[in-house]
Amino acid sequence: MSESSRSIPARGRAREEVLADLERIATSDVDWHAGRAFSLVYHASDEHSALLKAAYTRFFSENGLNPLAFESLRRFEAEVVAMTATMLHGGPEAAGTMTSGGSESIMMAVKTYRDWGRAKLGVERPELVLPASAHPAFFKACHYLMLEPVVVPLTDDFRADVAAMGAAVTDQTVAVVGSAPCYPYGVLDPIEEIGALAAERGVGFHVDGCLGGFLLPWVERLGHPVAPWDFRVDGVTSISADVHKYGFAAKGASTITYRDADLRRHQFYVSTDWVGGIYISPTAAGTRPGGAIAAAWAALQTMGEDGYLELAERIVDLGSRMIDGIEAIPGLRVLGEPVMRSVFAFASDDEQVNIFAVGDVLRRKGWHPDKQIRPDALHMMITTPHVDVVEPFLADLAEAVETVRGHPELATQGEAAMYGMLSEMPDEQQGDADDFVLQVLDGLYRPEG
Ligand SMILES: Cc1ncc(COP(=O)(O)O)c(C=O)c1O
Repeated sequence: MSESSRSIPARGRAREEVLADLERIATSDVDWHAGRAFSLVYHASDEHSALLKAAYTRFFSENGLNPLAFESLRRFEAEVVAMTATMLHGGPEAAGTMTSGGSESIMMAVKTYRDWGRAKLGVERPELVLPASAHPAFFKACHYLMLEPVVVPLTDDFRADVAAMGAAVTDQTVAVVGSAPCYPYGVLDPIEEIGALAAERGVGFHVDGCLGGFLLPWVERLGHPVAPWDFRVDGVTSISADVHKYGFAAKGASTITYRDADLRRHQFYVSTDWVGGIYISPTAAGTRPGGAIAAAWAALQTMGEDGYLELAERIVDLGSRMIDGIEAIPGLRVLGEPVMRSVFAFASDDEQVNIFAVGDVLRRKGWHPDKQIRPDALHMMITTPHVDVVEPFLADLAEAVETVRGHPELATQGEAAMYGMLSEMPDEQQGDADDFVLQVLDGLYRPEG
């Protein structure tokens, strides 16, 4: 390996050597394939991944920026959007685009409502009303696009408080938000009630189905209770759904679908007076990787409804086994009612068991559940690589709980101490916490050596 990675090597290195470096450097990554991670990677099977890679590399160089140059990509994108809209019960007028991921889909929705609100409602200081459990991508979009996020609390079951939402809507509100489901607890917001509110007040309603968009339809078809949440609900005007999560596409693939093309029009950007000629851009990205678009199309085509149903059944079963096992451990409790069973958080009811310390002990045993606050909890996302780890994980979890019960000092060490501080931090000190994390982030991107 080269001594320093601070400059491009003066002479290009041998390909084999570089490929070997990639493998060696990857050995420090979390072992998601062995089911050790509970976020970030959604994997159907090695066979399916091989198909995705073939589709991706076939369109590795093609660029979805100009739909007139690559008819293939235009067609794949239009069909991915149409298949998604049909799955979400959109009508014949439903229209959308693909994006690089959930955050970009959400950013596009927020931009659309900002510009729609300006054009149709005369709103000058746009506000977005959203529950505390909404994904940070909404806050980021508001930050980038200069909207005011208006946060409403959750009810005891961790769902959006619709009455509070109603009270938060003003004459500057352009849209309200609900999640299907939200990431922190995996619970479904009361979409029908929020839809009624949005329709009555004449504002947009974005349902964030980034996580559940490609799983909930099959969970419902399997006969599990799922309250209506898609375009069948009056008042829902747009839905984001990520193909690269439970759609099992390659990373870089999400969809944003609107009830009709008139609304989508506010998402597009065109420039007709640039010296370089007419420039059209449907989403935030300029260049759009053809591979991600083609692989998403290939995923939907090869998986089929039968494939998604079969996977959904396995995932719900795995999640249920995990949830039942966790609730059987004295002192632990799963928060709310996780609608897909595969995404949920669990907390400690026992004062002697600090849940963050349990997370630290699990990490030392090679497991990587994420930590979250209000209430303090550990977060899990289950997918097929977890098939063989349910029992070993539950055994290690039960042991970790006992270890923490016997060692109260663990709550004051490691990440547990940091999360404990975050969890109790008063609002006025939030800026200090942000600064601290920014400093850590600066450091993380420094090269080795
Ligand atoms: C509910 C929800 N919305 C949005 C996102 C953002 O998606 P991405 O990470 O693809 O930008 C996520 C990611 O986990 C999510 O769970």
